[in-house]
Amino acid sequence: MKLMELKSEIDLWLNNYFEAKNGYHKIIYEAMNYSLSIGGKRIRPILALLCYSLYKPDYEKIMPIAGAVEMIHTYSLIHDDLPSMDNDDLRRGKPTNHRVYGEALAILAGDGLLNEAMNVLFNFCTEHHHAISACKLISNSAGAEGMIAGQVVDIINEGKLISEEELSYMHRNKTGALIKASILSGAILGEASEKHIEILGSFGDKLGLAFQVKDDLLDVLGDSALLGKTIKKDMNHNKTTYVSLYGLEKCEDICKALTEQCLLELKKLDKDTELLENLTLNLLERNN
Ligand code: IPE
Ligand code: IPE
Ligand code: MG
Ligand code: MG
Ligand code: MG
Repeated sequence: MKLMELKSEIDLWLNNYFEAKNGYHKIIYEAMNYSLSIGGKRIRPILALLCYSLYKPDYEKIMPIAGAVEMIHTYSLIHDDLPSMDNDDLRRGKPTNHRVYGEALAILAGDGLLNEAMNVLFNFCTEHHHAISACKLISNSAGAEGMIAGQVVDIINEGKLISEEELSYMHRNKTGALIKASILSGAILGEASEKHIEILGSFGDKLGLAFQVKDDLLDVLGDSALLGKTIKKDMNHNKTTYVSLYGLEKCEDICKALTEQCLLELKKLDKDTELLENLTLNLLERNN
Protein backbone atom coordinates (compact mmCIF):
# COMPACT_ATOMS: atom_id res chain seq x y z
CA MET A 1 0.00 0.00 0.00
CA LYS A 2 1.27 3.46 -0.91
CA LEU A 3 0.02 6.86 0.22
CA MET A 4 -0.85 7.91 -3.34
CA GLU A 5 -2.82 4.72 -3.95
CA LEU A 6 -4.73 5.23 -0.75
CA LYS A 7 -5.55 8.79 -1.78
CA SER A 8 -6.80 7.55 -5.19
CA GLU A 9 -9.08 5.02 -3.51
CA ILE A 10 -10.55 7.77 -1.31
CA ASP A 11 -10.98 10.07 -4.34
CA LEU A 12 -12.80 7.29 -6.20
CA TRP A 13 -15.16 6.63 -3.29
CA LEU A 14 -15.95 10.34 -2.93
CA ASN A 15 -16.28 10.99 -6.66
CA ASN A 16 -18.80 8.17 -7.03
CA TYR A 17 -20.82 9.10 -3.99
CA PHE A 18 -23.15 11.72 -5.47
CA GLU A 19 -23.62 10.04 -8.85
CA ALA A 20 -27.10 9.69 -10.32
CA LYS A 21 -28.85 12.22 -8.09
CA ASN A 22 -31.86 13.90 -9.62
CA GLY A 23 -34.85 16.07 -8.82
CA TYR A 24 -35.71 19.78 -8.76
CA HIS A 25 -32.96 20.29 -6.22
CA LYS A 26 -30.23 18.44 -8.07
CA ILE A 27 -28.05 21.58 -8.23
CA ILE A 28 -27.29 21.10 -4.53
CA TYR A 29 -25.57 17.81 -5.34
CA GLU A 30 -23.56 19.57 -8.03
CA ALA A 31 -22.48 22.18 -5.49
CA MET A 32 -21.65 19.56 -2.83
CA ASN A 33 -19.76 17.44 -5.32
CA TYR A 34 -17.92 20.45 -6.74
CA SER A 35 -16.03 21.23 -3.53
CA LEU A 36 -15.61 17.58 -2.65
CA SER A 37 -14.07 16.53 -5.95
CA ILE A 38 -11.94 19.51 -7.09
CA GLY A 39 -8.99 18.40 -5.02
CA GLY A 40 -7.73 18.28 -1.47
CA LYS A 41 -4.94 16.32 0.12
CA ARG A 42 -7.34 13.89 1.86
CA ILE A 43 -5.14 13.91 4.96
CA ARG A 44 -7.92 13.09 7.40
CA PRO A 45 -9.32 10.01 5.59
CA ILE A 46 -5.77 8.80 4.89
CA LEU A 47 -4.99 9.05 8.63
CA ALA A 48 -8.14 7.10 9.51
CA LEU A 49 -7.28 4.31 7.05
CA LEU A 50 -3.62 4.16 8.07
CA CYS A 51 -4.43 3.99 11.79
CA TYR A 52 -6.98 1.22 11.19
CA SER A 53 -4.38 -0.59 9.05
CA LEU A 54 -1.98 -0.74 11.99
CA TYR A 55 -4.34 -3.32 13.48
CA LYS A 56 -6.36 -4.87 10.64
CA PRO A 57 -5.69 -5.52 6.94
CA ASP A 58 -9.17 -4.85 5.46
CA TYR A 59 -9.11 -1.03 5.46
CA GLU A 60 -11.62 -0.91 2.54
CA LYS A 61 -14.26 -1.86 5.08
CA ILE A 62 -14.02 1.52 6.83
CA MET A 63 -13.95 3.61 3.63
CA PRO A 64 -17.37 5.14 4.52
CA ILE A 65 -15.91 6.43 7.81
CA ALA A 66 -12.97 7.95 5.94
CA GLY A 67 -15.31 9.44 3.32
CA ALA A 68 -17.60 10.92 5.97
CA VAL A 69 -14.68 12.66 7.67
CA GLU A 70 -13.68 14.23 4.35
CA MET A 71 -17.28 15.38 3.79
CA ILE A 72 -17.25 17.10 7.19
CA HIS A 73 -13.89 18.72 6.43
CA THR A 74 -15.08 19.91 3.01
CA TYR A 75 -18.24 21.41 4.52
CA SER A 76 -16.02 23.32 6.97
CA LEU A 77 -13.97 24.70 4.08
CA ILE A 78 -17.04 25.87 2.15
CA HIS A 79 -18.32 27.73 5.19
CA ASP A 80 -14.85 29.00 6.17
CA ASP A 81 -14.57 30.65 2.74
CA LEU A 82 -17.94 32.45 2.87
CA PRO A 83 -17.93 36.26 2.66
CA SER A 84 -19.14 36.45 6.26
CA MET A 85 -16.21 34.30 7.41
CA ASP A 86 -12.80 34.42 5.63
CA ASN A 87 -14.22 35.76 2.36
CA ASP A 88 -12.02 33.68 0.07
CA ASP A 89 -12.16 33.35 -3.69
CA LEU A 90 -9.84 30.41 -4.19
CA ARG A 91 -9.93 26.94 -2.68
CA ARG A 92 -8.21 23.77 -3.83
CA GLY A 93 -7.01 25.72 -6.87
CA LYS A 94 -10.54 26.56 -8.03
CA PRO A 95 -13.08 29.34 -7.35
CA THR A 96 -14.70 28.87 -3.94
CA ASN A 97 -18.15 27.30 -3.73
CA HIS A 98 -20.01 30.59 -3.21
CA ARG A 99 -18.12 32.10 -6.17
CA VAL A 100 -19.58 29.42 -8.42
CA TYR A 101 -23.00 28.71 -6.91
CA GLY A 102 -23.73 31.88 -4.90
CA GLU A 103 -23.79 32.31 -1.17
CA ALA A 104 -27.17 30.72 -0.44
CA LEU A 105 -26.36 27.48 -2.27
CA ALA A 106 -22.86 27.40 -0.76
CA ILE A 107 -24.34 27.54 2.75
CA LEU A 108 -26.76 24.77 1.82
CA ALA A 109 -24.01 22.71 0.17
CA GLY A 110 -22.02 22.88 3.42
CA ASP A 111 -25.10 21.89 5.44
CA GLY A 112 -25.78 19.11 2.92
CA LEU A 113 -22.27 17.66 3.23
CA LEU A 114 -22.40 17.69 7.02
CA ASN A 115 -25.77 15.94 7.01
CA GLU A 116 -24.66 13.45 4.40
CA ALA A 117 -21.63 12.62 6.53
CA MET A 118 -23.97 11.89 9.43
CA ASN A 119 -26.10 9.66 7.17
CA VAL A 120 -23.00 7.74 6.17
CA LEU A 121 -21.94 7.33 9.82
CA PHE A 122 -25.42 6.18 10.92
CA ASN A 123 -25.65 3.73 8.01
CA PHE A 124 -22.27 2.33 8.96
CA CYS A 125 -23.41 1.89 12.56
CA THR A 126 -26.54 0.00 11.57
CA GLU A 127 -24.32 -2.60 9.93
CA HIS A 128 -21.44 -2.44 12.42
CA HIS A 129 -22.78 -1.83 15.91
CA HIS A 130 -19.30 -1.62 17.43
CA ALA A 131 -18.68 1.54 15.33
CA ILE A 132 -20.87 3.77 17.50
CA SER A 133 -18.06 5.07 19.71
CA ALA A 134 -15.85 5.95 16.72
CA CYS A 135 -18.75 7.77 15.02
CA LYS A 136 -19.64 9.61 18.21
CA LEU A 137 -16.05 10.79 18.46
CA ILE A 138 -16.14 12.13 14.90
CA SER A 139 -19.43 13.96 15.39
CA ASN A 140 -18.26 15.48 18.72
CA SER A 141 -15.00 16.66 17.18
CA ALA A 142 -16.90 18.56 14.48
CA GLY A 143 -19.35 20.15 16.91
CA ALA A 144 -19.53 23.17 19.18
CA GLU A 145 -17.03 21.62 21.60
CA GLY A 146 -14.61 20.95 18.72
CA MET A 147 -14.14 22.44 15.26
CA ILE A 148 -16.95 24.97 15.66
CA ALA A 149 -15.49 26.18 18.98
CA GLY A 150 -12.20 26.87 17.21
CA GLN A 151 -13.89 28.63 14.29
CA VAL A 152 -15.86 30.83 16.72
CA VAL A 153 -12.71 31.89 18.57
CA ASP A 154 -11.07 32.59 15.19
CA ILE A 155 -13.93 34.75 13.94
CA ILE A 156 -14.77 36.73 17.07
CA ASN A 157 -11.14 37.68 17.59
CA GLU A 158 -10.41 39.18 14.18
CA GLY A 159 -8.63 42.47 14.78
CA LYS A 160 -7.85 41.59 18.40
CA LEU A 161 -4.69 40.30 20.01
CA ILE A 162 -5.37 37.03 21.80
CA SER A 163 -3.28 35.20 24.40
CA GLU A 164 -1.05 32.24 23.60
CA GLU A 165 -3.47 30.07 25.53
CA GLU A 166 -6.49 31.20 23.52
CA LEU A 167 -4.59 30.80 20.24
CA SER A 168 -3.63 27.26 21.14
CA TYR A 169 -7.26 26.55 22.11
CA MET A 170 -8.36 27.89 18.71
CA HIS A 171 -5.87 25.77 16.75
CA ARG A 172 -6.52 22.66 18.83
CA ASN A 173 -10.19 22.91 18.05
CA LYS A 174 -10.60 24.39 14.59
CA THR A 175 -8.12 21.99 13.01
CA GLY A 176 -6.74 19.60 15.62
CA ALA A 177 -10.04 18.12 16.74
CA LEU A 178 -11.05 16.56 13.41
CA ILE A 179 -7.51 15.39 12.67
CA LYS A 180 -7.31 13.70 16.07
CA ALA A 181 -10.77 12.16 15.60
CA SER A 182 -9.72 10.77 12.21
CA ILE A 183 -6.71 9.09 13.81
CA LEU A 184 -8.61 7.76 16.81
CA SER A 185 -11.65 6.57 14.86
CA GLY A 186 -9.38 4.42 12.68
CA ALA A 187 -7.62 3.03 15.74
CA ILE A 188 -10.88 2.37 17.63
CA LEU A 189 -12.40 0.56 14.64
CA GLY A 190 -9.19 -1.46 14.39
CA GLU A 191 -9.70 -2.40 18.05
CA ALA A 192 -6.43 -0.90 19.24
CA SER A 193 -5.59 -1.31 22.94
CA GLU A 194 -6.25 1.46 25.48
CA LYS A 195 -2.52 2.10 25.64
CA HIS A 196 -2.29 2.54 21.88
CA ILE A 197 -5.35 4.81 21.82
CA GLU A 198 -3.60 7.00 24.38
CA ILE A 199 -0.39 7.17 22.33
CA LEU A 200 -2.27 7.87 19.11
CA GLY A 201 -4.29 10.55 20.90
CA SER A 202 -1.07 12.29 21.82
CA PHE A 203 0.20 11.82 18.24
CA GLY A 204 -3.06 13.41 17.01
CA ASP A 205 -2.75 16.41 19.34
CA LYS A 206 0.75 17.14 18.10
CA LEU A 207 0.05 16.45 14.42
CA GLY A 208 -3.10 18.61 14.49
CA LEU A 209 -1.20 21.54 15.98
CA ALA A 210 1.76 21.13 13.60
CA PHE A 211 -0.70 21.05 10.70
CA GLN A 212 -2.34 24.37 11.60
CA VAL A 213 0.99 26.09 12.42
CA LYS A 214 2.18 25.01 8.96
CA ASP A 215 -1.09 26.31 7.48
CA ASP A 216 -0.38 29.68 9.14
CA LEU A 217 3.17 29.61 7.73
CA LEU A 218 1.95 28.80 4.22
CA ASP A 219 -0.45 31.71 4.38
CA VAL A 220 2.61 33.97 4.54
CA LEU A 221 5.29 32.01 2.67
CA GLY A 222 3.24 29.91 0.25
CA ASP A 223 2.84 30.25 -3.50
CA SER A 224 -0.83 30.71 -4.30
CA ALA A 225 -0.56 28.64 -7.50
CA LEU A 226 0.81 25.66 -5.59
CA LEU A 227 -1.25 26.23 -2.47
CA GLY A 228 -4.54 26.56 -4.34
CA LYS A 229 -5.59 29.30 -1.91
CA THR A 230 -5.05 33.04 -1.75
CA ILE A 231 -2.14 34.02 0.49
CA LYS A 232 -1.61 36.73 3.12
CA LYS A 233 -5.27 36.60 4.03
CA ASP A 234 -4.69 36.04 7.76
CA MET A 235 -2.78 39.30 7.94
CA ASN A 236 -5.35 41.10 5.81
CA HIS A 237 -8.09 39.93 8.17
CA ASN A 238 -6.01 40.89 11.22
CA LYS A 239 -6.10 37.38 12.62
CA THR A 240 -3.85 36.29 15.45
CA THR A 241 -1.96 33.27 14.15
CA TYR A 242 1.14 31.39 15.28
CA VAL A 243 3.07 33.50 12.78
CA SER A 244 1.74 36.83 14.05
CA LEU A 245 2.44 35.83 17.66
CA TYR A 246 5.78 34.01 17.38
CA GLY A 247 7.26 35.08 14.01
CA LEU A 248 8.25 32.90 11.05
CA GLU A 249 11.45 31.42 12.39
CA LYS A 250 9.99 30.28 15.69
CA CYS A 251 7.01 28.77 13.84
CA GLU A 252 9.32 26.73 11.62
CA ASP A 253 11.03 25.49 14.80
CA ILE A 254 7.69 24.69 16.45
CA CYS A 255 6.64 22.65 13.38
CA LYS A 256 9.91 20.72 13.33
CA ALA A 257 9.82 20.04 17.06
CA LEU A 258 6.19 18.85 16.91
CA THR A 259 7.03 16.61 13.95
CA GLU A 260 9.88 15.04 15.92
CA GLN A 261 7.52 14.49 18.85
CA CYS A 262 4.96 12.87 16.50
CA LEU A 263 7.61 10.44 15.26
CA LEU A 264 8.55 9.56 18.84
CA GLU A 265 4.91 8.79 19.65
CA LEU A 266 4.69 6.49 16.62
CA LYS A 267 7.85 4.64 17.73
CA LYS A 268 6.15 3.82 21.04
CA LEU A 269 3.54 1.76 19.20
CA ASP A 270 6.08 -0.86 18.18
CA LYS A 271 4.23 -1.43 14.90
CA ASP A 272 5.01 -0.90 11.23
CA THR A 273 4.32 2.85 11.17
CA GLU A 274 6.37 3.66 8.07
CA LEU A 275 3.49 5.19 6.11
CA LEU A 276 2.35 7.27 9.08
CA GLU A 277 5.92 8.48 9.54
CA ASN A 278 6.17 9.38 5.83
CA LEU A 279 2.88 11.25 5.98
CA THR A 280 3.98 13.15 9.11
CA LEU A 281 7.20 14.23 7.39
CA ASN A 282 5.35 15.13 4.17
CA LEU A 283 3.08 17.43 6.15
CA LEU A 284 6.09 19.28 7.54
CA GLU A 285 7.59 19.73 4.08
CA ARG A 286 4.35 20.41 2.21
CA ASN A 287 3.86 23.41 -0.03
CA ASN A 288 0.08 23.02 -0.26
C1 IPE B 1 -7.24 23.42 5.22
O1 IPE B 1 -7.19 22.04 5.36
C2 IPE B 1 -7.98 24.01 6.36
C3 IPE B 1 -7.43 23.69 7.66
C4 IPE B 1 -8.10 23.03 8.54
C5 IPE B 1 -6.09 24.14 8.01
P1 IPE B 1 -6.32 21.16 4.36
O2 IPE B 1 -4.96 21.78 4.20
O3 IPE B 1 -6.37 19.74 4.78
O4 IPE B 1 -7.10 21.35 2.98
P2 IPE B 1 -7.33 20.34 1.76
O5 IPE B 1 -8.34 19.34 2.21
O6 IPE B 1 -6.02 19.72 1.40
O7 IPE B 1 -7.88 21.21 0.66
C1 IPE C 1 -9.81 26.75 8.72
O1 IPE C 1 -8.71 27.49 9.12
C2 IPE C 1 -10.25 25.73 9.69
C3 IPE C 1 -11.50 25.10 9.25
C4 IPE C 1 -11.95 25.13 8.05
C5 IPE C 1 -12.26 24.40 10.23
P1 IPE C 1 -8.19 28.53 8.05
O2 IPE C 1 -9.19 29.58 7.78
O3 IPE C 1 -6.82 28.96 8.44
O4 IPE C 1 -8.08 27.58 6.75
P2 IPE C 1 -7.66 28.08 5.31
O5 IPE C 1 -6.29 28.70 5.46
O6 IPE C 1 -8.71 29.02 4.85
O7 IPE C 1 -7.60 26.80 4.52
MG1 MG D 1 -10.72 30.49 8.83
MG1 MG E 1 -9.83 30.36 5.87
MG1 MG F 1 -5.22 29.22 7.08
